[in-house]
Amino acid sequence: MSERIVRTQVGIVGAGPAGLWLAHLLAVAGIDSVVLEKRPRAEIAATHRAGILEQGTVDLMTALGLDARMRAEGYAHHGIELRVAGQARRIDFADLVGRAVQLYPQQEVFSDLADGAAAKGLDVRFEVADVALHDLTGESPSITFTDADGTPTRVVCDFVAGCDGSRGISKRAIPEVLRTDHFREYPFGWFGILVEAEPSAPELIYANSDHGFALISQRTATTQRMYFQCDPTDSPDNWDDERIWDQLDACTAAPGFTLRRGPIFDKTVIPMRSYVCEPLQYGRLFLAGDAGHTVPPTGAKGMNLAAGDVSVLARSLERYYREGEADLLETYTATALSRVWKAQHFSWWMTSMLHTQPGASTFDRRRQLGELDLVTTSRAGSTYLAEAYTGWPLIPTRPGFLDPDTALGNVLASQLTGRETTASRP
Ligand code: PHB
Repeated sequence: MSERIVRTQVGIVGAGPAGLWLAHLLAVAGIDSVVLEKRPRAEIAATHRAGILEQGTVDLMTALGLDARMRAEGYAHHGIELRVAGQARRIDFADLVGRAVQLYPQQEVFSDLADGAAAKGLDVRFEVADVALHDLTGESPSITFTDADGTPTRVVCDFVAGCDGSRGISKRAIPEVLRTDHFREYPFGWFGILVEAEPSAPELIYANSDHGFALISQRTATTQRMYFQCDPTDSPDNWDDERIWDQLDACTAAPGFTLRRGPIFDKTVIPMRSYVCEPLQYGRLFLAGDAGHTVPPTGAKGMNLAAGDVSVLARSLERYYREGEADLLETYTATALSRVWKAQHFSWWMTSMLHTQPGASTFDRRRQLGELDLVTTSRAGSTYLAEAYTGWPLIPTRPGFLDPDTALGNVLASQLTGRETTASRP
C-alpha cells in the first residue's frame, strides 16, 4: 500500500492533556497541527487519573471555552488539611494567597479537550500504530504511522511536539549522549482505591502518622479516592478490604473523625518517581508534559506541568511563525524547566515531609514533625505551601514573552490575573 502524505505545521505525538492542550492553543494562534495517539479514545477516558487543577490550569480551560463541565461537575477547594499525628491543621489557600484549586480528574479534562477538538475540527487521530519520528534535526521532520484504517501515513511538518508521556517514544529520540536523565526513585509507593461513599471531609486530607502517609481525596458526592503509603513492589492482591480500611483508619485517626467506608471498586499500586529529561529539545523536536518529566503525586502537579510546558511552547511557535523569531524556541528548555524544577522541588518536599521513611531514626522522625509543625503554624511556611500548591504562572511574565495583542496572548494572559476561581464548592 502506498504511503499517504499529510502536511501540517506541528506534528503532535500523544493526545493526553499535553498534546490536546497544545493543539487547542496552536489553533487559537492559527497554527495547524495533527495529533497522533495510539490508544483508543474510550480507553483514555476510562483510565482513572489524579485530579487537581491549579488555578492557572482552570483559567486556561476557561479561556479556551472548555470549562463548563469542569465547573458543573468539579469542585473548587480553598484549602487542604494537613493531619499530623491526629491533629488537623488547615492550610487556607484563600486567606494565604487568594487562590484556589479545582478537583476534577485528568480523564475528565481529557474528555473535554477531545470533545472540544472534535467540535473545532482539529485533526486528532486515535488508535494509530507504528509511530516513528524522522529527520528531527533537518528542516522538514516527519512522523510515520499506520492510521486507524490501516493506511501507512506520513505527517510532514515543521516541528514535532513529543507529548506521549513517560513511556513514549519521543524522549528516546534524543540521543543518549546529548541527554541527561535526572532521576530519583522513592522507597515507597501509593496504594490507591476508589470507593462508593460520601466524602469524609469537605477538603483533601494529607495525613502523616507513625503508620505512614495517607491522602483522603474525593471524586463526586458518592465516589471517593483514597491512597496510603505502601511498599512500591506490593500487589493489590495482598490487600483485602478489611486490611485496607484498617490501614487507612490507622493513618487518619483523629478525635471526632470517622472515615466513611463503602464498597471498594478499584485498587492500584502507584510507583513514586521524580524525573527530568534535559534538554527538552532536540533539533525540531520539543518534549512537553510527562514525556519530559514526572513528579510523585503528593504535590498534585503532574497535569499542571503539562499545561505550563505547552503554554510556553505554543507562544514560542507563535513567535516563530508570526514574528519570524526563533529565540523563544531556542530557549524552550530553560524556560520550561525553570517552572518544572520548582515543581520538582515542591513535589519532592511534600513527599519527603509527609511520608514515613523506611529505616528512619528517631532524629529523622522528630525533625520531620518539627518541619510539619513549622509549615502548619508559621504564616511564611504555610504561604509557601499554598503558593506552590495553587500554582505559579504557566508562562513567564517577562515582556516580549507574553504578547497580549494576539488571540493566543489573550488566552495566556487570562491566567495571570490572580483572581480566585469562581467554580462551585462541594
Ligand atoms: C487525587 O484526587 O487523585 C489526588 C489528589 C491530590 C494529590 C494526588 C492525587 O496530591
